[in-house]
Amino acid sequence: MHTIANEIKAGFIQRYGTEPRMYFSPGRINIIGEHVDYNDGFVMPAAIDKGLYYAVALNDSDRINMYSTDYDEEIDLATDEIAKSEGWKNYVLSVLNEFVKLGITIKGFNCVFGGDIPQGSGMSSSAAVEGGLAMGMNDLFNAGLDRIGLARLCQRAEHGYPGVQCGIMDQFANMMGLEDQVILLDCMDLSYEYFPLDIEGYAIVLLNSKVHHSLASSEYNTRRKQCMQGLEQISAGGALKSFRDLTVAEVKSWKDKIEEQIYKRCLYVVEEIFRTKNASVALAKKDLERLGALMFETHDGLSKLYEVSCKELDLLVNIARNDNSVLGARLMGGGFGGCTINIVEENSVNDFVEKASVMYKDQFDIELESYLVKTSKGTHILSL
Ligand code: GLA
Repeated sequence: MHTIANEIKAGFIQRYGTEPRMYFSPGRINIIGEHVDYNDGFVMPAAIDKGLYYAVALNDSDRINMYSTDYDEEIDLATDEIAKSEGWKNYVLSVLNEFVKLGITIKGFNCVFGGDIPQGSGMSSSAAVEGGLAMGMNDLFNAGLDRIGLARLCQRAEHGYPGVQCGIMDQFANMMGLEDQVILLDCMDLSYEYFPLDIEGYAIVLLNSKVHHSLASSEYNTRRKQCMQGLEQISAGGALKSFRDLTVAEVKSWKDKIEEQIYKRCLYVVEEIFRTKNASVALAKKDLERLGALMFETHDGLSKLYEVSCKELDLLVNIARNDNSVLGARLMGGGFGGCTINIVEENSVNDFVEKASVMYKDQFDIELESYLVKTSKGTHILSL
């Protein structure tokens, strides 16, 4: 159990010679509701059993020492030297900076972290980086934030040094996940419900395209701007405040009145908000066929209207679409690479993965990776 956790703990003790506190900070899946968390939509994520393990302890000095086992790189700076840096360092330093902004005194600490969540896979390794550190610091500095407060802090952190204007979904799932449950989160007011992930006879399989197109974060921010711009135009002087107030027919009536790209983004968003509501009804009724059909529709929208897919992801979804053992599939997360999420008949998982691997390798000369996902509790302390 927790082999990685044990390695991280041993690495910490070897490096710093003291006993750390240990945390697990999960990645997430999202059943449906993509690119709508920053558009007042609903999302349906769950925390998963892949993630990051954090070892942390105060060190009675004014130094921050952090070591990432995945990158084999470290941070070594004084507590008053927190500033923008690069790569993974921006994510952790931005979390610390958010504590500073709250007036929390940062004390010197040591930290080792690493895990089994592939970078750029659409499973939100970034929220896992943020969440594990944020909970550790919340405890070490007695900052007193609750889980939702921590999720919000982590979202602000991602907006900060990394400069990605993300929604709240990933950080919320990272903090609020529960085993065997998906969260139906209303991103307008952060009200939420848990749904048992009741998919007997089926499994959730992620197929990792292993591509990550470099435009991902700049295009993400562009989508966000386009949606705001579209809403402003459609809302004709601000009478409507949210995509939630619009119907698909209303958006369609704007087809020739606004720029085509902006129109397509808005149409996707409003359709996806309705789709996610319908999907939650389907899941509650255990109508998995319907849920699956909605997932395929989401992919089409993400690919053709929102334009955040790529040829690798489109191929993986097409393979799934032509396979009778798959109820639904779509790209998951921000897009431009990463994973597809597939609901597959349990007995056919191996055949499906094998078939997809061969076809993917044929087309792109890339070895597909696949993961059978289990849901997990949100970020939590581990006793080892
Ligand atoms: C990324 C962001 C989330 C969300 C998804 C797309 O994972 O961090 O906030 O917008 O993309 O649904």
